[in-house]
Amino acid sequence: MSRRTRHLTTARIHLARLSRNLALLQEMVGGREMWPAIKANAYGHGAEIVARHLIGLGYRTLSVAHTAEAIALIERSAAATYVLLSAALPEQSAAIVAYGLEPSVCTTEMTDALAGEAEKAGKQVAVHLMVDTGMGRVGIHPDEVPSFLEHCRALPALRIRGLMSHFPCADQADKSLSREEIEQFRRVAEAAAAAGIEVRHMANSAAIFDLPDSHFDAVRPGIAIYGLRPSREIANPRVHRLEPVLEWRTRITFLKEVAAGTGLSYGHTFHTRRPSLIATVPVGYGDGLSRNLSNNLELLVRGRRCPQVGRITMDQSLVDVTALRGQVEQGDEAVIIGRQGGEEVTADELAGKLGTINYEIVTGIAQRVPRLVVDTEDREG
Ligand SMILES: Cc1ncc(COP(=O)(O)O)c(C=O)c1O
Repeated sequence: MSRRTRHLTTARIHLARLSRNLALLQEMVGGREMWPAIKANAYGHGAEIVARHLIGLGYRTLSVAHTAEAIALIERSAAATYVLLSAALPEQSAAIVAYGLEPSVCTTEMTDALAGEAEKAGKQVAVHLMVDTGMGRVGIHPDEVPSFLEHCRALPALRIRGLMSHFPCADQADKSLSREEIEQFRRVAEAAAAAGIEVRHMANSAAIFDLPDSHFDAVRPGIAIYGLRPSREIANPRVHRLEPVLEWRTRITFLKEVAAGTGLSYGHTFHTRRPSLIATVPVGYGDGLSRNLSNNLELLVRGRRCPQVGRITMDQSLVDVTALRGQVEQGDEAVIIGRQGGEEVTADELAGKLGTINYEIVTGIAQRVPRLVVDTEDREG
């Protein structure tokens, strides 16, 4: 879509920053494989854009959550080996085999269905056995691994390529549970070594920074490749070298002078206290800007923090630009996340206001917001 026809609210994706974040992570894991997580539209950054960039950089295995995410990417020619991090259902086995996906498995119903489909297709299906060392979400209990592997031995079309786990608390300052999980995982992996497992993998972004003993053979970073911190409790100072990949920008479509005491937007939750210059921007909760940020958000206009006022609506929001009277114009850029001049609004700032995490902010940016690739580095945004 051309500049004149596309939505005025855009997410700019800085691929050079993505490359530098990957290099930083690679530095910490040495020659181990990295299987970046590009699930949920690459944490809102645009799965196709990110997948192509990663493939171009030489990453051959990528992690997604669901079968449908992998198929959509393969059908758009983003050819890679896709590991499925979430549990799938046996009914999805034929598609998993047909597309050569590598699911994480934790039930014999799933291994049997996959092996059956693979046999029919005259193929082998590679899977990753998910062990629950503490997450309590999916996975088999560590004690069940030997009998599970024994069951799989009778399925020649099934190849257990990986043994995996996922940390619930690696991003917390207290690493005691994570350290116990690593030891448990190591014990399980040793006991399972005879089964021919090639890749042991458990580290997410937080563990890459703070738990080097968890790096094993491959790591699965998500949030950090996008330049966002897994949490504020990461101890490794290298976390400060991450550079946010996404900037979220919109444009001023309308400007109006209003009198003091004017009620603005639905419910008149805001009344001007002085004669004010109010800008309209075409971004709302339909774009993923939470309505709960209403009257509690600042956008950057002309390098200055300007308060958002009144309810955020589905498609439009209002910004008080009175401080910029005489300088601001229709068409000016307004930054929701990113830098302008010497100011910056981060995904963490928005997450803090909403009582959530940066993951949810960027992942929540709606599909209708075009993701625009920015290849050149531009530190000031
Ligand atoms: C199984 C699994 N591995 C790796 C990741 C990546 O985690 P992070 O984004 O914290 O690096 C996730 C994300 O939630 C996951 O579910």
